[in-house]
Amino acid sequence: MDGVMTPLTDGGADLRSRVARLSLEQKVRLLTGADSWALYPEPDAGLRRVVLSDGPAGVRGETWDERDTSANVPSATALAATWDCERVEAIGRLLAHEARRKGVDVLLAPTVNLHRTPFGGRHFECFSEDPMLTARIGVAYVRGLQTSGVGATVKHFIGNDSETERMTVDVRIDERTLRELYLVPFEAIVREAGAWSVMASYNGVNGATMTESPLLRDILHDEWGYDGLVMSDWTAARSTEPAARAALDLAMPGPASRFGPWGDALAEAVQDGRVDEALIDDKVLRILRLAARVGALTEVPAPPAPAAVDIPGELRAAAAGSFVLARNNDLLPLSRSSLGRMAVIGPNAEVARTLGGGSATVFPPYTVSPLEGLRAAGLDVAFAPGTLGHLRTSAARAPWLVRPDGSGSGAEVRFFSSSGELVGSEQRDGAVFRWMNGFDSVGAPEEIARLEISCVIRATEAGVYQFGVSGLGQFRLLADGAEVLDETLAVREGADPGEILMVPPQRLVPVELAAGQAVTVRLEHDVQSSPMAGFGTFLQLSLEVPHGTDDEEIAAAVEVAARSDVAVVVVGTTAEVESEGFDRTSLALPGRQDELVRRVAAANPRTVVVVNSGAPVLLPWADDVAAVLLTWFGGQEFGDALADVLLGYTEPGGRLPTTWPASTEGLPSTQPADGVLSYSEGLFIGYRGYDRDGRAPLFPFGHGRGYTTWSYDAITVDCAPVDLADPADAQGVAVCIEVRNTGPRPGREVVQLYASRPDSAVERPAKWLAGFAAVDADPGETVNVRILVPERAFQHWSDRGWTLEAGTFALSAGSSSASLPLTASVTVK
Ligand code: BGC
Repeated sequence: MDGVMTPLTDGGADLRSRVARLSLEQKVRLLTGADSWALYPEPDAGLRRVVLSDGPAGVRGETWDERDTSANVPSATALAATWDCERVEAIGRLLAHEARRKGVDVLLAPTVNLHRTPFGGRHFECFSEDPMLTARIGVAYVRGLQTSGVGATVKHFIGNDSETERMTVDVRIDERTLRELYLVPFEAIVREAGAWSVMASYNGVNGATMTESPLLRDILHDEWGYDGLVMSDWTAARSTEPAARAALDLAMPGPASRFGPWGDALAEAVQDGRVDEALIDDKVLRILRLAARVGALTEVPAPPAPAAVDIPGELRAAAAGSFVLARNNDLLPLSRSSLGRMAVIGPNAEVARTLGGGSATVFPPYTVSPLEGLRAAGLDVAFAPGTLGHLRTSAARAPWLVRPDGSGSGAEVRFFSSSGELVGSEQRDGAVFRWMNGFDSVGAPEEIARLEISCVIRATEAGVYQFGVSGLGQFRLLADGAEVLDETLAVREGADPGEILMVPPQRLVPVELAAGQAVTVRLEHDVQSSPMAGFGTFLQLSLEVPHGTDDEEIAAAVEVAARSDVAVVVVGTTAEVESEGFDRTSLALPGRQDELVRRVAAANPRTVVVVNSGAPVLLPWADDVAAVLLTWFGGQEFGDALADVLLGYTEPGGRLPTTWPASTEGLPSTQPADGVLSYSEGLFIGYRGYDRDGRAPLFPFGHGRGYTTWSYDAITVDCAPVDLADPADAQGVAVCIEVRNTGPRPGREVVQLYASRPDSAVERPAKWLAGFAAVDADPGETVNVRILVPERAFQHWSDRGWTLEAGTFALSAGSSSASLPLTASVTVK
């Protein structure tokens, strides 16, 4: 850690002298990205190119396609569901290892906005509804990355808790709510993990767009003493002077000739005296400090190489550790020795949904679907899809998609200039195409006029296949030389770039094929006809293969379930349902999945439902099935981890980091009115809101079962009364809790501690998370766990800043926010 932190403490003079060597033009050039993912090198400052990459589910690198694969870790909510800071820190180290392998210096992660409402499109990408849990997990994630010499970018500062109108919305948050909820994770990560970079969000807060907001300087710099860099979200920097005067250091992406308001305009503003050059120097200093930390400056020691990691092993354990066993009527774990045939049913059983959509997308080297994982465990598996879970037709894939030369599954892309000259080609392994940084090796976006994508579609059975395209602009599709589609696909007015990326318009045409028939397909695209051409080119060759009607597929699944010993139904969403760029409009499972579950459970009482969604979905049948396992977007090892947990090789380690609603009643809205989104619920999000309203969710915050049982036997507070002004007590209040494993197996319990303040003079939530710790114990073993409750857990924000209401607080311990058998009190002053 020390080596990595050196430039922070004693590198100031060296960094300042490097800044002093640069002309105004050189300095200003550094303040806008060189391209989509990199900063400019500046030899006169000894600075090499610094590379950034999304995050948080892996390290995508500089390209956005399947040829440049990345380890896909479980989604952020899954990581928080482990309540296991050591495991998350290890995931941070794994990501650092990936970053170094891919030449990445700074990861654009973690996302520490809060789960204000499950309607939020990027819910899956955020850790929790609770600020304290988000802070603890976020600190661990950032430590793992940065102690391995890779920068974290804590995002999105601040108020980007939903997606609707995110580029323009003005979020109104009262000061107390901002301090006690939304700023908490940022503050903890800046102060405790020393974040090297923060990303300013697209939206505004209380009247100022965040890239110009006084909060950047007032809070980050002045209050928290933040010495890192503030970069804009992609295209969020919108003005020359206000953004320059605010504490925004880096406008992304670049170059300034195409994106962003700085470049020459900023140099002129400095020359005219409208922007003080000292501000520019401070921004450059912060960029150089980041560069020093990641080893991108000459004569500054490079950070240590990240330790080697067992990627599949870590990811498998992390996924299993995140699965929340929400309900178990003595069905799980399944006994391998007596298990007969297992029916594996559901749309998400066959196609692994391992991550959410938008900038969080990475391309894993492989994924293990539930079906593959259960088969690999050696089980006798009968599969039935049951119903279509996706709302849009997916990309063509193996075994139907074949390269024109037959060399494998994929397609060939050919690039043409405006004079019709062939300027390059790519052999691809899939049928999803996204070019963000120009066309990689073949040229800048303005140089490419036309693309041709060629492949063969081979029918596995006779029937009607839907051939199609998703994208923007003009497309022509030919099957065996005959035109089947010629259309210009237009963007929905006001659509967010994230929406365009994840759910662009789609057109399909039916083509009838005989079994074994191979059709040569060519898709032609006029690149410049897309209104997004300057930003990137995104398209997909889609294919829907013949399938029964939902009625037929459900009936077939029910029959398979009835003939099996146990039924595992994997339901869920897709990356196109849960994505950056738009919020969800419904929390229901897509398609007829609810009906599928009900009918399978009626046919086989030994039914376990595996919910494969990044965020809560409504489960109206939850009380009628034997077991419910919530598995999030589980990363590339999803299916193997599922087999481990169902068969009891591993405990389901997860506890809910977010309240799982029974209905949409009372959930905060994501919909702005006249450009304003008011956080009118104030402090009362998640369990704080349910408590206040006296409503019961389906599964409470913190809930989750293992495969053993626990008794909570004793609670003691170490020292009372506590004088938090006394340095000896300032660390906080130590609470000891005694728990015993009363069940038949070794297990792990997450002991949770909630604070409350009966008879407070201040309006407060009924309780709030104050600390947690995990314990492992053998059958019959008693364990004492010590939880340190920090001073901040007893404070509230008032006109006087952080304030302690002297008096007696209750501290209650238990296994979830709704099961707190032990309470102690502590008097603080
Ligand atoms: C997202 C960021 C992301 C950036 C770069 C933006 O649209 O909001 O989270 O890091 O794009 O992909």
